[in-house]
Amino acid sequence: MSIRTPLPPGSDPLPDAGSFGPVSDPKAVSEALEAWFRVAARRLPWRDPRSGYRALVSEVMLQQTQVSRVIEAFERFIARFPGPAVLAAAPEPDVLAAWQGLGYYRRARLLHAAARAIVERHGGEVPASAAELEALPGIGRYTAAAIASIVHGERVPLVDGNVTRVLCRLADAPGRMGDPATERWAWRQAGSLVQACAAPGVTNEALMELGATVCVPGTPDCARCPVAHACAARAAGRQGEVPLPKRPARRRTLRWAVLVDAGADGVLLERRPERGLWASMMQPPTVEGSEHDDPAALARTRCERFDAVGSFVHVTSHRDVEFCVFRARAPVSGAPGREAPVRVAQGMLGAHALSNAAWRALEVAGVGVRTPRAARPARRAGPNASTDS
Ligand code: ADE
Repeated sequence: MSIRTPLPPGSDPLPDAGSFGPVSDPKAVSEALEAWFRVAARRLPWRDPRSGYRALVSEVMLQQTQVSRVIEAFERFIARFPGPAVLAAAPEPDVLAAWQGLGYYRRARLLHAAARAIVERHGGEVPASAAELEALPGIGRYTAAAIASIVHGERVPLVDGNVTRVLCRLADAPGRMGDPATERWAWRQAGSLVQACAAPGVTNEALMELGATVCVPGTPDCARCPVAHACAARAAGRQGEVPLPKRPARRRTLRWAVLVDAGADGVLLERRPERGLWASMMQPPTVEGSEHDDPAALARTRCERFDAVGSFVHVTSHRDVEFCVFRARAPVSGAPGREAPVRVAQGMLGAHALSNAAWRALEVAGVGVRTPRAARPARRAGPNASTDS
C-alpha cells in the first residue's frame, strides 16, 4: 500500500483525468460494500479492539508492508509499547529494535515523534479528528482519514493504492497508478462515496479490504465481489487492464563491502549515519560504493586482510544494493568522521536495531544469527535477491 499525496487546493478541474467518468450510484455501492465488509472482513488484531492508538500503529506499519508481516510485528509492538505515553518515553533504539522486520525505519522514527506530540499536545490521547491527526509528525491525509473515519466515524474519504484500483475499475477509468491526476480523481470519487454512505469508516475500510482481498492487481476475483454488478470495467471486460500499472522508477545499483569481524569477544558493529537509508541503525562495518567499484578495493579502505565469503542483492524501493561480504582477518578501522565501532556479544545482537540486510550479511559470513522473522537461507555463491528493507 502506498500513501497518496494530498489534494492540493484549487486542483479542480482535473487536468488529465477530466475525461474519467464518476463511480455511478455511490449510495448503492457504499451500501453493498458496507454489508459485505460486516460479514467478510478479515479478523486482524488492530480491528479488535479498536482504538486510535492501535489504528495509528497499524496504519503506519501497513504503509508499504504486507498484512501478514504486520500482524506479528503489531502484537509485539503493542505488547512493548501499549500506549502513546510509553512509546513517547522509550529511547529511540528500543523503538527501532521493535520495528525490525518492517523496514522503512524512518516511519518508526516519525511514529515515535507522533507519540511525543500526542503526549505534549493532546494529554496522551490520540486525537479524534482528521485535522488534528494530520498535524502530527509523519501523519498524512490518508492515515489521518483512516483513523478518524474507522475509529471515530468522521465523514472523510481516504485513498491508497488498493482504493485507487477499486475506484478505477468501478468507473472503468483508465488511470495510471501513481499519476497525480489519477490520484486526484480517486480522492474525488472516494469523497462522493463517503458523502453518500451510512458509515464512513466501514465504507472506507471496505474499499481497502476489497482492494486487498478481491479486487486485486492483475486478475480480480469478480465472483466474490459485492459490487461486481456495479463495476463498469467488468461490464466492458476491462477489469484486468484497468488501471494501468505504475511507471517504473529509474533504479540505481550500488555495491557495498561488508566487513564481518566476529570472534569470541563478539561481533564488531557500527552505527549508520543519522540520515538516509537505515538511518542510525547498527551494521557490521560497511563501505559504500557504486556499481563501478571493486568490492575488495572498498573493503581495503578499512581492513588489510579479509576473505570474500559471498554476496547478495538487496532490493529497496529505489535501488538495488549488492552486498559483498568479507570475513575480516585483521583489525577493521572506524569510518572517518563517525562513531567508533563497538563489539557486541553474539547473544546480544537481537537487542540492537539491525536492518534485514545487515542480518543477512552476518548470516552469509557464517555468524550464527538468524533474522528476527522467519529465517531464510542465504546463498553463498553469486548474488541473489531479497526485497525487504
Ligand atoms: N490497509 C491499510 N489499512 C487497512 C485497513 N484498515 N483495512 C484493510 N486494508 C488496509
